[in-house]
Amino acid sequence: MPHTPVWFMRQAGRSLPEYRKIRAGVGMLESCRRPELVTEITLQPVRRHHVDAAILFSDIVVPIAAAGVDLDIVAGTGPVVAEPIRAEADLERLRPITPADVDFVAESVKLLVAELGATPLIGFAGAPFTLASYLIEGGPSRTYLKTKAMMYAAPKLWDALLSRLADITLTFLRTQIDAGVSAVQLFDSWAGALSEADYREHVLPHSARVLRGLADAGVPRIHFGVGTAVLLRAMGEAGADVVGVDWRTPLDHATGIIGPDHALQGNLDPAILFAGWDVVRCEADRVLEQGRAAPGHVFNLGHGVMPETDPDVLTRLVAHVHEASAR
Ligand code: CP3
Repeated sequence: MPHTPVWFMRQAGRSLPEYRKIRAGVGMLESCRRPELVTEITLQPVRRHHVDAAILFSDIVVPIAAAGVDLDIVAGTGPVVAEPIRAEADLERLRPITPADVDFVAESVKLLVAELGATPLIGFAGAPFTLASYLIEGGPSRTYLKTKAMMYAAPKLWDALLSRLADITLTFLRTQIDAGVSAVQLFDSWAGALSEADYREHVLPHSARVLRGLADAGVPRIHFGVGTAVLLRAMGEAGADVVGVDWRTPLDHATGIIGPDHALQGNLDPAILFAGWDVVRCEADRVLEQGRAAPGHVFNLGHGVMPETDPDVLTRLVAHVHEASAR
């Protein structure tokens, strides 16, 4: 590629008027289960922004719902689980999944690959820890109190839960890969709540089982989390090819921590998109410059696009990254 590739986490979604229009009156989970709608929503940011990759429109809780958990995605809140998992007996509500349980995902991927031509499609899943946090808390949390309490007080239950989640995640990602995605991203969005020691002991083995389980699949594996400055090395060791870095850690510093075997993805602060074009351009140039220290760099934000973002700024940013990185 003559320039640094660029795509955005949450590039499909509420920042786009065409998304808000097509989603009107259709629930989030229901949208994820309609291959034609998924295809249209996934393509919207590719058409508009000319990003170098599409990311499948879905959600991290889609495979959990397919596994039998009663949950909903509530607008403005996020995933809400009707009966949280707190004890051994609750594990029965989380069955293993087969590819047939998520056949709508395979169908969506096939439709998309046919439409996208040379543009790669990125598949994704939530990592066991981040999924567990929703299942144990019952919804989003700022403190992860119940999650951490289970991790410390009931390590056997914890391991059983995260093992089940790792199996579900592996099947979910395999299904996407078999249907034709070109890369996968494992979102451990909330792993930054943990110390390095706890991450290594209680979380890394499960994420590693997912990532290493895909080693023979022949697609790049991206491993991303937020607030992960102290976890970056461990997240690379879990078996990723690319480590996603949030905006808190400069990429030249991150590559020094993670080492020369991993490319990096990131890491413009999504809030910068609200600061006016001169600031956006200047900060994008800084990210590109710091990214040159890494053995490979995929330009992205340090977390997802905020719903209030002006989509024209994203379009302009893509053009700028292409132009500035080709020089
Ligand atoms: O464009 C893309 O990135 C692909 C689509 C995508 C969605 N969710 C669609 C979505 C992806 C990759 C996700 C992953 C996801 N979902 C994560 C990991 C990424 C991250 O942001 O850290 C997490 C933690 C979730 C759980 C979740 N689902 C949250 C926190 C929310 C937001 C709640 C809200 O309304 O603010 C959702 C809902 C969701 N997932 C929306 C979208 C477009 C918004 C729902 C809507 O449009 O009605």
